[in-house]
Amino acid sequence: MMENNSTHYIRPIGEVYLPVNSRPLVVESNTIKFFDDSDVRQPNRIFTHLKRGGLALVSGAQGEIQQLAEYLQKRRNELVSYEKPAYDRKRDRRNRTSTRRERVKPTGIEPQKRLMVLADSEGKLQLDPSPELPFLIELIGELEGINGKFPFLLPWEQLTDIQSALSIQYMLEGFECSFLAGQSVLPPKSQETTDLFRRGLKTLSYPDQILDLGCGSGILTILARTEFPTAQVTAVDIMPEALATTKINLKNHRKLDLVSVYHSDLFQGISDKTFDVILFNAPWVVARSRSRSELPTNDEKQKILTHFFEQVGNHLKPNGDLLLGYADHSGPNAIKKLADLIDHFGFKNHEQYKARVSTHRSNKKWQTISVYHLRKRF
Ligand SMILES: C[S@@+](CC[C@H](N)C(=O)[O-])C[C@H]1O[C@@H](n2cnc3c(N)ncnc32)[C@H](O)[C@@H]1O
Repeated sequence: MMENNSTHYIRPIGEVYLPVNSRPLVVESNTIKFFDDSDVRQPNRIFTHLKRGGLALVSGAQGEIQQLAEYLQKRRNELVSYEKPAYDRKRDRRNRTSTRRERVKPTGIEPQKRLMVLADSEGKLQLDPSPELPFLIELIGELEGINGKFPFLLPWEQLTDIQSALSIQYMLEGFECSFLAGQSVLPPKSQETTDLFRRGLKTLSYPDQILDLGCGSGILTILARTEFPTAQVTAVDIMPEALATTKINLKNHRKLDLVSVYHSDLFQGISDKTFDVILFNAPWVVARSRSRSELPTNDEKQKILTHFFEQVGNHLKPNGDLLLGYADHSGPNAIKKLADLIDHFGFKNHEQYKARVSTHRSNKKWQTISVYHLRKRF
């Protein structure tokens, strides 16, 4: 169902779907105006519109829009307005006695976010040439079909970020071709993690139904599909960009058949399903996510892990196997909590595969990653 205020009328295009992260920009701007390819070649008109606080929706040749973006970037200081601190007598007195200076903050929408481009209702970008970006609505973090019959817009900056994320190829041993990762998706860089899951999978007898919970790039989905070519694999994630990435990688690895990809918050979207094997490479950094790109790694107060254990028993078949990836990055208390959850929810540790690796943030810091092979106690 379409939410209120999710569309906006833009002449001469008509009703356009506004992705959630673009809504504040549209609300904050004076007006959003469409500029066609001839306008893009005369950046001054667009510049004047942006200077008045507007947003510009542009169409035309990709190269020319890139040049326009660079032109605006060069003149970005003229597009930023600065907030003058309101006069405060008390603070003024304090400042006279201290050396602290008032900071002048830039206000309004950052210039590079004011340039928007349009995709049609199917997600085809209205650019020339139109870049090949399948599942675009999901790549920008929205659910497939959310825009209904409407075209949708996205900031040019976000488009270039997505394109540069997708331009990196990750090659891992044991796979025939490389992997990609959309913006904010955990890149499949860890050979060790993949090898630990592979070791766990190799000990299992032929399962029918496998779940890859929190599929991210889809690396474990493809691993499971490779190890068990006749099994049905279900891949779910809470982040639409992960679902898009999984589908792109499945297609590139020619492993689309026998795989279903769903949006799901833990087991919510697959509440009636049970599995012989559940794989979950869980977020392992016990901290709040400060940005979307930290969502795949961060789990504040281990809430995701706790909710996972509360629900997983209902979705694992009797004698089913759970392969859980977790790192000791957040210290012994986090590992103790994991051990308590395993015990409290009636699981036992059948095997633990371990590797010592550098952390995702720094090559100088080390952590132990483990894949726990868990089974229900009877
Ligand atoms: C550490 S990453 C693992 C990604 C991938 N499986 C891998 O091994 O590279 C954790 C994944 O869990 C997903 N996730 C986090 N919370 C979730 C939830 N409540 N429901 C479903 N997926 C979730 C994240 O979006 C992320 O893709």
